[in-house]
Amino acid sequence: MKRTVLALATLSLLASAAQARTWDQIKAAGTIKIATEGAFKPFNYFEGKKLTGFEVDLANAIAKQLGLKVEWITQPFDNLLIGLNQDRYDFVIASHGITPERAKAVDFSDPHYCTGGAIVSKPGGPKNAADLAGKVVAVQVGTTYLDNVKKVNGVKDVKTFPKDTDAEAALMAGRADAWVSDKFLGLDAVKTMKGKLVQGDLLFQEKIAMAVKKGNLGLLKELNATLSQLEANGSYAKLSNQYFGQDIRCR
Ligand code: ARG
Repeated sequence: MKRTVLALATLSLLASAAQARTWDQIKAAGTIKIATEGAFKPFNYFEGKKLTGFEVDLANAIAKQLGLKVEWITQPFDNLLIGLNQDRYDFVIASHGITPERAKAVDFSDPHYCTGGAIVSKPGGPKNAADLAGKVVAVQVGTTYLDNVKKVNGVKDVKTFPKDTDAEAALMAGRADAWVSDKFLGLDAVKTMKGKLVQGDLLFQEKIAMAVKKGNLGLLKELNATLSQLEANGSYAKLSNQYFGQDIRCR
């Protein structure tokens, strides 16, 4: 028993002492490891067995520009930043909003898009913060949606779900009166659900960025430089238009 506890303590010590791969090491290896969730359409999701979406295409374009192959790793959203700090991959791109709390744990890149958390309900359901009083709201766990819905006065209950798609399903099944999620994702869902869902107001705005392990500044510099190249040469606009019919970069 004692030995197991000791072994575990040693392991976690080793893990925290481990270093993230530096830019030079990644370059020498020729492959970059990128993590995302794969359940946040149209940003990162599976089409059958194929991982795709705006963020997947954008990260693939960044890697290509850097002359690297990509190894994709998918993890539940709530585990992504933890795995980053355990050196399981080099960076994360999964629609993380830049928050002061997260910025204590990881380093964020320049934002790769600007958005907000929007209310979605069935026709006739809550459309703004005031309407949420006395209502049940569904959100994905670990998200800025959860933090911001908690700040709304009078909400009856905030139900959390492992996946954003589960939160949407709770609304559809009548187990929640509203669902709060990304405004572009919500627009996509409203289109797909033809008449069964409507989008309400934005509850808050946020800047979305990629994350590297705290202190991995060499890699961060490469990601930022490449993102701005793709924004300057038209690749970003092309991708954004393909997925959203508009350019969603921050301005
Ligand atoms: N933008 C929100 C946040 O920062 C939600 C991100 C959810 N991403 C995902 N891949 N499910 O928390």
